[in-house]
Amino acid sequence: MKEIKAIDYSIWIGENSLSKLDISTYSKVAILVDENTKRDCLFKLPQIENALIIEIKSGEEYKNISTCNFIWEQLTINNFDRNALLINLGGGVIGDMGGFCAANYKRGLEFIHIPTTLLSMVDASVGGKLGINFKGFKNQIGLFNNPNSVLIYPKFLETLEESELKSGFAEVVKHALISDNSLWLKLKNTPFADLDWKDIIDTSVHIKNKIVLADPFEKGERKKLNFGHTFGHAIESYYLENGTPISHGEAIFMGMILETEISDLSEINKNEIKNYLLSNFALPYTPKKTYLHKFLLNDKKNQNEKINFTLLSGIGNCSIDNLFSINEL
Ligand SMILES: NC(=O)c1ccc[n+]([C@@H]2O[C@H](COP(=O)([O-])OP(=O)(O)OC[C@H]3O[C@@H](n4cnc5c(N)ncnc54)[C@H](O)[C@@H]3O)[C@@H](O)[C@H]2O)c1
Repeated sequence: MKEIKAIDYSIWIGENSLSKLDISTYSKVAILVDENTKRDCLFKLPQIENALIIEIKSGEEYKNISTCNFIWEQLTINNFDRNALLINLGGGVIGDMGGFCAANYKRGLEFIHIPTTLLSMVDASVGGKLGINFKGFKNQIGLFNNPNSVLIYPKFLETLEESELKSGFAEVVKHALISDNSLWLKLKNTPFADLDWKDIIDTSVHIKNKIVLADPFEKGERKKLNFGHTFGHAIESYYLENGTPISHGEAIFMGMILETEISDLSEINKNEIKNYLLSNFALPYTPKKTYLHKFLLNDKKNQNEKINFTLLSGIGNCSIDNLFSINEL
């Protein structure tokens, strides 16, 4: 088992990580699940007597204030006090929303993330961002707050659908491209089906954690994690508006291709990245850039109407705050 030290908590990764679930000091314990993690993951946790199971519906569309009302209601009617614990057993939706509910219940309940998707293992559970969607805007309401610990048990991935696995994999590829050439070489030279997930998760969490430690509140260094996400979010919004949503991972793969094109990289590097992404992942068609303009102009990171990109300056290196006017794209 590996321990990675985050700001003020530990991330445990491996077959024995669930043995680090220590509930001895809490007055009560609740476990937040959706129907899938209840079916596929809950029974793999160590038995917790009298734990309250709070089940919500799976899906991004339920990451909202009504579901929070339900969670807070369950904690209230079951007399949870401030010394209780909430365990978030699920993907990024459960982690973001469960953490948000815990952080606001009675001014703060302790919580533990047990991520069950690749995306939540390598990305959402690390870094303290919590939140919910509001009025159609993603993560519009939220805060930074850290869990007590994060327990990553890679075997949860065995029941995850392949499309979800690939969606989370986009963040692994991003981590390699922005800061780890040796991880990139490993990904490039290993067929997807042969990847050693424990090893990939270790390296990927290490990269994200290092960046977050350097800049917890995204003032500088943490912006590196935005590579692929400026075009990626615009593409995701474009497909959503057209009534044919695509996965977050697909959008980020396409975003990484477009942002590789405008990066200051050799043609050899650009082709290496594009060939890898296009030959390994069946991606939807990339919309014309002009269709993306209105979404890009609404990006949270914009400065003086310029679009702010994190771009590659080599494979395993990147630079932040590259500003482009819409006409330059
Ligand atoms: N906080 C952050 O820093 C951060 C970073 C990236 C993404 N996010 C958020 O993460 C969310 C997306 O997370 P996600 O991709 O994990 O999606 P998700 O939480 O919706 O999970 C995807 C699906 O997989 C199912 N599932 C989860 N684990 C399973 C398992 N082991 N076996 C079978 N089915 C399982 C879920 O029920 C769901 O249907 C978004 O809301 C996004 O905003 C947050």
